[in-house]
Amino acid sequence: MPGRLENVKAVITGGGGAIGMATAEAFLREGALVFVTDYNTEIVDRTLKSLKVVSDSVFGCPADVTSKSEVAFMMDAAARSLNGITALINNAGTVSPGYLVDQSTADIDRVTNVNLKGVILCTQAAIPYLDKSKNSSITSTSSQAGKRGWNQNAVYSATKAAVIGFSRAMAVELAPNIRVNSIAPGHIKDEGMAWAAFAKRKETYQTVEDFSVDLAETEIPLRRLQSATDIANGFVFLTSNEASEITGVVLNIGGGVVMD
Ligand SMILES: NC(=O)c1ccc[n+]([C@@H]2O[C@H](COP(=O)([O-])OP(=O)(O)OC[C@H]3O[C@@H](n4cnc5c(N)ncnc54)[C@H](O)[C@@H]3O)[C@@H](O)[C@H]2O)c1
Repeated sequence: MPGRLENVKAVITGGGGAIGMATAEAFLREGALVFVTDYNTEIVDRTLKSLKVVSDSVFGCPADVTSKSEVAFMMDAAARSLNGITALINNAGTVSPGYLVDQSTADIDRVTNVNLKGVILCTQAAIPYLDKSKNSSITSTSSQAGKRGWNQNAVYSATKAAVIGFSRAMAVELAPNIRVNSIAPGHIKDEGMAWAAFAKRKETYQTVEDFSVDLAETEIPLRRLQSATDIANGFVFLTSNEASEITGVVLNIGGGVVMD
């Protein structure tokens, strides 16, 4: 049976992280050609090694998403490796949990640059390469934190709200040929950013499991955290032809923690 992403040629940023890796794997299983990129060579090499077990249709190179020249080089390499690009998954992200008064200017710059400027630079670099005739799409990782107040994550929340605004504006600008959407994951249970948030809450919780169970029971209607694969499934859907009439949306995948 053909996969749901046959003919898709996808670039995935933050491909070495929990959600990026799960998304790359899901895309490969659905028949896509995949180009993964991440911050440095070591992460990209490790990621490619894992993904080649799934499929040989995977390529990659490092790029710091905050660097215009590195992003330009990476996007050109992706277009050559994949013989064109039809999908961009803007997924690289970083976090700096803690009270705002304790955040250094370096923390604020890092989170803002990776989570917002990185999405803007990668989108800008991808546009000339995106196939204008094949249901091309850009999907970016926002967060439930961008929709509701998330304790001790103000700068992160601001960047994730900005990703939604940027994606909606680009959905209008790039219509009718390129669809632009975003996904707002809740806390995922795989090692990733939720764990970084836990590290700052150690005064309250002994283990990440305690933190997760408490969070799920108090805040999430479905009473469970999501997995990286749950988020990957959303990226598969929004990139597939099944979503060919969907642009400008924010897909909540958070067990009901936000319902707008
Ligand atoms: N884990 C969660 O609970 C959660 C919830 C909501 C949203 N998100 C978002 O999902 C995305 C993926 O998060 P994750 O949980 O997989 O975290 P992760 O830390 O496992 O992955 C993030 C990846 O981004 C890469 N990255 C960071 N800075 C970069 C830079 N300057 N250039 C290139 N790559 C860079 C990291 O190396 C890492 O591989 C992020 O945008 C995050 O904000 C995560």
